Amino acid sequence: MRIAMIGTGYVGLVSGVCFSDFGHDVICVDKATDKIEMLQSGQVPIYEPGLDVLMAKNVSAGRLTFTTDLADAVDGADAVFIAVGTPTRRGDGHADLTYVMSAAREIAQAITDYVVVVTKSTVPVGTNRKVHEVIAAANPEAEFDVASNPEFLREGAAIDDFMRPDRVVVGVESERAVEVMAKIYRPLYLRDFPILNTDLESAELIKYAANAFLATKITFINEIAGLCERVGGDVKEVARGIGLDGRIGNKFLRAGPGYGGSCFPKDTAALARIGQEHAYPMQITETVIRVNDAVKARMIEKIREVCDDRFNGKTIAVLGVTFKPDTDDMRDAPSLTIVPALIGGGAKVRVVDPQGRAEGEALLPGVEWLDDPYIAAKGADAVVIMTEWNEFRALNLTDLASTMKTARMVDLRNVYSSDLALGAGFETYIGVGS
Ligand SMILES: NC(=O)c1ccc[n+]([C@@H]2O[C@H](COP(=O)([O-])OP(=O)(O)OC[C@H]3O[C@@H](n4cnc5c(N)ncnc54)[C@H](O)[C@@H]3O)[C@@H](O)[C@H]2O)c1
Repeated sequence: MRIAMIGTGYVGLVSGVCFSDFGHDVICVDKATDKIEMLQSGQVPIYEPGLDVLMAKNVSAGRLTFTTDLADAVDGADAVFIAVGTPTRRGDGHADLTYVMSAAREIAQAITDYVVVVTKSTVPVGTNRKVHEVIAAANPEAEFDVASNPEFLREGAAIDDFMRPDRVVVGVESERAVEVMAKIYRPLYLRDFPILNTDLESAELIKYAANAFLATKITFINEIAGLCERVGGDVKEVARGIGLDGRIGNKFLRAGPGYGGSCFPKDTAALARIGQEHAYPMQITETVIRVNDAVKARMIEKIREVCDDRFNGKTIAVLGVTFKPDTDDMRDAPSLTIVPALIGGGAKVRVVDPQGRAEGEALLPGVEWLDDPYIAAKGADAVVIMTEWNEFRALNLTDLASTMKTARMVDLRNVYSSDLALGAGFETYIGVGS
């Protein structure tokens, strides 16, 4: 199969690389010239474990190329995937479909033979039909079908998620398109991964429902964590106790500083907006968004408490600013709410993050970037663990505490325990939910 991948970001690049590894011929397209130049010279513009090796393998096998020329990529393709961004539209929470629709118009002009135009971007219900209308209007001669194929990969584990998915969801309306999609995903089909063929609207909704459900689960345990802090009890024990129930499951039950990242915040906002537009308020999702904001605010208060109720004049070492480990993605990370509050209150903030600096520098003005947690903690009033990178899971707490001005730790990921930290010489240890 010949595939054109429009948009070479976190999803487009991983999908393109993995499809080429399936044996398909893939051309990845992006408007960003610098990104394509990097890729053409063998560099990977994002941090995603294992991506560089898999990319190099398929480039040298001659199955994977990169271009800024969309028309060239679409010409002769069996399927064209749209994997451009769908950020939150300013003002109303709606998914901004500007990039999707402009890609659809460009694709329309380039269609020569029958092709399936597949939306991989996360898009509101009805978008695939609009994509169909836009292409048909721009090129009435074009022979094509649309398909909805939302992506469920997690940054940091993206390749494994793509290669060994829990399921592949395909919304299609014609047999011809079903056949093309089946050929593309044949390697997964042969290994018995579930492929769910459904209608366009259900496919579009599955993606939003999945993300809203996961955001709800995280927010639920975060709310229980707040209650544990008031009434006693340890949220880790509560999470274990409920997670062992097969109906609940133990995943997404780790209390922390609130969900963030490139998907949950924008997708919950978009689902809430879809509900409002159809006069059917998504009340649970709307509440989840509100509670998640409150969780982040609660984290700021936790840190303030440890800093003698004032940030002014304090030096705080923040370990981790990406929204989760093993990614350099800073989009909607809780750190973007929490760190500016510390700085706004007058604190001096030192940040260590294994991959977050390149993106984080512009987003977190006024912080000092360091490479070593021990140097960051030296002379500091408090250390805050914000992201549970492996590098921060096995710190020598005795060494860390010994160089601090006041050895106080706020552990927003519950990496350590009170016993461990106090035993290593910390005078204060505060986690989440105990
Ligand atoms: N990041 C994730 O973990 C993830 C997971 C599942 C689904 N998604 C969804 O996938 C979509 C893409 O997300 P992402 O994180 O990869 O975004 P991204 O911002 O990393 O990448 C999007 C890319 O598309 C390019 N682009 C925009 N318009 C273009 C055009 N007309 N032609 C060519 N290139 C164009 C941009 O330059 C950019 O490089 C979103 O809808 C997102 O919700 C993301």
